Amino acid sequence: MSICFLLPRCVPLVMIQVAQRWQLILIFNWISLCVPMPLVNDCRDSLIEEENASRTGGNLVLGKWEEHANEKLMQLKEMEVAKSVETDVFPPSMHFFKAKGLIEQSAIFSILKKMPKGAALHLHDYAILSVDWLVYNASYLPNCYISFCHSWTVQFKFSSPLPPKDVPPGCSDWTLLQSYRKNLNNVTQFDNSLLKNLTLVVEAPELTYPSQAFIWRRFESIFTAASGLISYAPVFKAYFYQGLLEFYEDNVQYVEIRALLPPVYELDGTVHDKAWSLRAYHDVARQFMENHSDFVGAKIIYSTHRKQNVSQIKEAVHTAMALKAEFPDTVAGFDLVGWEDGGYSLWQLKDALTFPETVGDKLPYFFHAGETDWQGMPADQNLLDALLLNTRRIGHGFALPKHPAAKNLALKMDIPIEVCPISNQVLMLVSDLRNHPAAFLMAEGHPIVVASDDPSIFGAKGVSYDFYEMFMGIGGMKADLRTLKQLALNSLEYSALLPGEKEKALQIWQKKWDHFIAQVSGIIPEQMEKAEPVHSSCN
Ligand SMILES: *[C@@H]1O[C@H](CO)[C@@H](O)[C@H](O)[C@H]1NC(C)=O
Ligand SMILES: *[C@@H]1O[C@H](CO)[C@@H](O)[C@H](O)[C@H]1NC(C)=O
Ligand SMILES: *[C@@H]1O[C@H](CO)[C@@H](O)[C@H](O)[C@H]1NC(C)=O
Ligand SMILES: *[C@@H]1O[C@H](CO)[C@@H](O)[C@H](O)[C@H]1NC(C)=O
Ligand SMILES: *[C@@H]1O[C@H](CO)[C@@H](O)[C@H](O)[C@H]1NC(C)=O
Ligand SMILES: *[C@@H]1O[C@H](CO)[C@@H](O)[C@H](O)[C@H]1NC(C)=O
Ligand SMILES: [Zn+2]
Repeated sequence: MSICFLLPRCVPLVMIQVAQRWQLILIFNWISLCVPMPLVNDCRDSLIEEENASRTGGNLVLGKWEEHANEKLMQLKEMEVAKSVETDVFPPSMHFFKAKGLIEQSAIFSILKKMPKGAALHLHDYAILSVDWLVYNASYLPNCYISFCHSWTVQFKFSSPLPPKDVPPGCSDWTLLQSYRKNLNNVTQFDNSLLKNLTLVVEAPELTYPSQAFIWRRFESIFTAASGLISYAPVFKAYFYQGLLEFYEDNVQYVEIRALLPPVYELDGTVHDKAWSLRAYHDVARQFMENHSDFVGAKIIYSTHRKQNVSQIKEAVHTAMALKAEFPDTVAGFDLVGWEDGGYSLWQLKDALTFPETVGDKLPYFFHAGETDWQGMPADQNLLDALLLNTRRIGHGFALPKHPAAKNLALKMDIPIEVCPISNQVLMLVSDLRNHPAAFLMAEGHPIVVASDDPSIFGAKGVSYDFYEMFMGIGGMKADLRTLKQLALNSLEYSALLPGEKEKALQIWQKKWDHFIAQVSGIIPEQMEKAEPVHSSCN
């Protein structure tokens, strides 16, 4: 007789999930008694069930049509994975630059594109829209000047009636792009080189990018190149509108954007302040919502570079507090951006970051933290410090599984991590996405949202590619429709939407979700109430 028989066959694991911590410990100890026992079925099943229930989405109960859609989805997934096992070609284990074309052929990917994904909560201002638009539209506007720089990059600037004044260091004189193009034999070839200037995409990334320090330098130089185009006032507004459109078309209902709010300029050189940019974001988002009533909006997380010293960060914190007060509906909070290993740690900046607290201002933080491979280094410590500074979410949290205390604290505080799989791979934290640390967190149902960080720079678009990596690679074979539904729900739940806005967002999302389920099930939405799904096992 096995002691396992003491354990009722189907222990209500949902209840274990919500049970008190001491009860949990008790039950785990009890279950662990099973381990040395032979493979008794009841025991095995209850352990499998325990893992089933703790997984992301493991507690969701699907409706009949959702079950049906799930069967179809999982059949497709099993087929695709079986083929990968056979051919040894599995996109999530390949570099995204090589996997992208394969992902686009996947039936799972086309379903993920149609899925209403809720919110994309981790994006950066100047990297939300495919660079094609910058090259084919923005750079073709009149009065656009170009300058060629020594490090294989270019700079842009709009100016009239005179050419731009200052030549950037290490770059050629400004040339009017319109006349430059006129004198070229092959404009297509030139435009292709500009496209390359604005992304990290190359044929052989492992050869081109020898280190994280190197790729981060290139990454930041791309932002600089793009900012000459995007910071021109008319482009700034159009870029944001088109960016929202790209996410909307990828079935995202709401976005939160980390924005540096650099000076936006006019043709005559006039520059605008941060408030101007926020008003522009607000107005464009409103205009977009007027044209697309099923889009919920956008909020801005004002961000500044983490390479600045404590007095500069203190100033930025002051600015953030003032902006949050002036634009309470648009500004969600504050963050620090840039390469974590190469910048100041939160601890080093603590005098600046604890300032709002000392004056009783609750400036919400959304810190990037633990976006590092270096265990035990200052950036690694950022995870715990972000939590102690009351962060609302953690950007990346890549190192979180290495920190049990921080992880438990995050769980207790209900602080999600924003997982950006493609970003982590391209920026060289992990190569095979099956080994992404979020796999551990998903297995235990740690709160997670999926985002795409800087899709345009990685050659991605919207957030569907990252959902694909999450669903096929990180989540593994057990990730199913419940996982996806939970991730979408999380994205709205953990957003900075105000309670009323959140409710509206959830309603809009639910309607889209029902429609999506009908689509995957192959029926008309109106029939969902009356009809019964035919299960594939009965076919
Ligand atoms: C665990 O979940 C899988 C679906 O992912 C299901 O097929 C299986 O029956 C579940 N196992 C147990 C023991 O509940
Ligand atoms: C961008 O340029 C292309 C080609 O000139 C044009 O077809 C397209 O309508 C433009 N898009 C926008 C949003 O202006
Ligand atoms: C121009 O360059 C493109 C891309 O490199 C190439 O496909 C095309 O054939 C070239 N056209 C001419 C006329 O040489
Ligand atoms: C950037 O564009 C310039 C101008 O066409 C080109 O010479 C350079 O090779 C491009 N850089 C990259 C990294 O593609
Ligand atoms: C959005 O709608 C307004 C009218 O509300 C219209 O004037 C405008 O052209 C539309 N913009 C786009 C980009 O579709
Ligand atoms: C911080 O940096 C600024 C600009 O480089 C400098 O003027 C200032 O003295 C520095 N402050 C501290 C405390 O290091
Ligand atoms: Zn980021």
